[in-house]
Amino acid sequence: MKDKRPFVVATFAMTVDGKVTTKNLSPVDFTSREDKLHLFRQRALADAVLIGHTSLKRDNVRLGLPVEMQENRVKRGQSRCPLRVIVSNEGRIEHRLKIFQSDVSPIIIFSTKGMPRKYQRALEKKATLHLSSSKHVDLAGMLETLRKKYGVRRVACEGGPTLFRSLLEQGLIDRLNLTIAPYMFGGAKAPTLTGLSKKFLPASVHCSLNGMRTIGEECFLTFQIRHQRRRRK
Ligand SMILES: NC(=O)c1ccc[n+]([C@@H]2O[C@H](COP(=O)([O-])OP(=O)(O)OC[C@H]3O[C@@H](n4cnc5c(N)ncnc54)[C@H](OP(=O)(O)O)[C@@H]3O)[C@@H](O)[C@H]2O)c1
Repeated sequence: MKDKRPFVVATFAMTVDGKVTTKNLSPVDFTSREDKLHLFRQRALADAVLIGHTSLKRDNVRLGLPVEMQENRVKRGQSRCPLRVIVSNEGRIEHRLKIFQSDVSPIIIFSTKGMPRKYQRALEKKATLHLSSSKHVDLAGMLETLRKKYGVRRVACEGGPTLFRSLLEQGLIDRLNLTIAPYMFGGAKAPTLTGLSKKFLPASVHCSLNGMRTIGEECFLTFQIRHQRRRRK
């Protein structure tokens, strides 16, 4: 499977009590400039950057890169910025979002035929649409398409937790970069890294610590994700 799909690296920041955002999912800036640079560096290493619809909507990000990092990519023989990939089941993605006002790299949307025609017409002008007949986007299939059709070898997954959890449950995350920021938010309704679901993961996921460094008051961790091989019945 691994050769069929790109290597997937997720990058998140969380508080000391494990929260990635507040209960309203409002954009909350709780990390340093260094952490933002870290996120850009991870993005710059990838052929595609992946984001869930809610994070895109809430944070209204363009998913570009600082000019210097764009230039370094060009020197390495890459495109200026990674492809920008959005995942949505419902497909009600607002075409006025900032990402669609920026043409730093092509935008690819994986969604379903449930996307209302009005949205399809508006988004077709700004992005390439892959609409599946099923109710949910097949994430493994999406990664295979990125590999085969777009030559993507490395994906930077920038969340959010719902998308991350879905990928994790299907054994589709290979590495996790996690910044621990010096705050606690509390709140049962503030999502953790794996979202708000009360359910356990289908199997515990072993995170093997690969790297750790502290800068200022933040701790930057890197884990290799080891998925259990599913036993055949
Ligand atoms: N601290 C951090 O590092 C960090 C990083 C990223 C995000 N965040 C925060 O996380 C919050 C949003 O997280 P979230 O968990 O609510 O949302 P999310 O994962 O960003 O997006 C969820 C949406 O993405 C689509 N989606 C997710 N999984 C899918 C799947 N398997 N197949 C198809 N579509 C899928 C669906 O869109 P539709 O509803 O359109 O169907 C779903 O509602 C924001 O507040 C953001 O700021 C924090």
